Amino acid sequence: MTALISGSVAFDTIMVFNDRFKNHILPDQVHILNVSFLVPDMRREFGGCAGNIAFNLRLLGEDPLPLATVGADFDKYGEWMEKWQVRQDHVRVMDDHYTAQAFITTDLDDNQITAFHPGAMGMAHAVDVPTGEENAIGIVAPNGPEGMVKHAEQFKAAGIPFIFDPGQAMPLFDGEQLMSFVEQATWVAVNDYESQLLRDRTGLTVEGIAEKVEALIVTRGAEGSHIYADGEKLEIPAATPEAVSDPTGCGDAYRAGLLYGLGNGMDWETTGRIASLMGSIKVAHHGTQNHQFTMDEFRRRYEEAFGGSF
Ligand SMILES: Nc1ncnc2c1ncn2[C@@H]1O[C@H](COP(=O)(O)OP(=O)(O)OP(=O)(O)O)[C@@H](O)[C@H]1O
Ligand SMILES: [Mg+2]
Repeated sequence: MTALISGSVAFDTIMVFNDRFKNHILPDQVHILNVSFLVPDMRREFGGCAGNIAFNLRLLGEDPLPLATVGADFDKYGEWMEKWQVRQDHVRVMDDHYTAQAFITTDLDDNQITAFHPGAMGMAHAVDVPTGEENAIGIVAPNGPEGMVKHAEQFKAAGIPFIFDPGQAMPLFDGEQLMSFVEQATWVAVNDYESQLLRDRTGLTVEGIAEKVEALIVTRGAEGSHIYADGEKLEIPAATPEAVSDPTGCGDAYRAGLLYGLGNGMDWETTGRIASLMGSIKVAHHGTQNHQFTMDEFRRRYEEAFGGSF
C-alpha cells in the first residue's frame, strides 16, 4: 500500500518562558504592546501534518509519499526523512521561500503564543497527485488551501480513495467548499471541535455527513473516538497511555493508523483501535516525531490495550 499524503511539512520551534505571560502583558497597556520573553529552553522539531503522518506510517512499516512544498531551509528535514526512508519524490523545494514554520512560546500556565509562517506551503498546488502508484490510498490534510482543493479533485479524478482531514485549515474554507470536499472524499476525519465547525459551516448533521461518505471519524482526545459507518456508530476506546506529555500530533498519529487499517483492508473495529493506539503512544512523548516502536511491540501493546490481535 502506498499512502499519498497531501499536507504540510513544517518546522516547529518550541520555546518555554519560565514565568507567566500575565505578569508581563498588562491589560491596561495592550494598546502599546511591546514585550520580549527570555526563553532559555528551545527545541526545534520536525512537524507538519504530512511529515507527521508519513513518520507514523513508517513506524507501521508502510510506504508514505508526502505531497508537499518546502523551502530552501529544508535540508535537515530532508535528512530526517531520508533516515526514516520517507520517499521525497513529491516534496518540492521552493528556493525563494522558507519551509512552513510555527514559533510557539509557552508559559508556566501552559498558555501559548504562536506565530505560523506558511512559507512554501502556500504553493502546495505546484505538486500533482501521482497516478502511477499501485494500491494507493490518499489523505488531504491541512496544507496550502489551493493545494488541498487541487489534490482532492485529483484523487477523485484518479479514483484514489482518500480521507478528507481539514484540521486547522478548516477556517480557510466556506460551507460550499467544505461540502465539495465531503462529496469528493471517501472518508472524513475530524476532532470533536472540527466536527462542530464542519456541521456549522455545511449545515449538515453528523448523520448527514456520515451518509455522504463511507465513514466519518470523530476523535475525542483521551475519550477515544467515534466512527460513523454503515449507518452505525462505533465507539473506539482510548488506549491507556504510558504518560500524558504532549497532545500535539495525536491527530496525525491516529490518521496514520486509519490509513494503515484502510490500506490493508481491515474492519472498522480493528482500524479504529490501531489508530487509537497510535494516538496513545504519541501522547506519551514531546513533539510529533519522537516516539518509536517495533511492530512486535505494537502488536503486544494492541493485545494489552484491547485484547485480541490484528
Ligand atoms: N490523553 C490521551 N490518552 C489516550 N489516547 C489519546 C489521548 N489523547 C489523544 N489520544 C488518541 O489520539 C486520538 C486523536 O487525538 P485528538 O482527538 O486529541 O486529536 P486532535 O485534536 O486532532 O489533536 P492534534 O490536532 O493536536 O494532533 C484520540 O481519538 C485518541 O484515540
Ligand atoms: Mg488535529
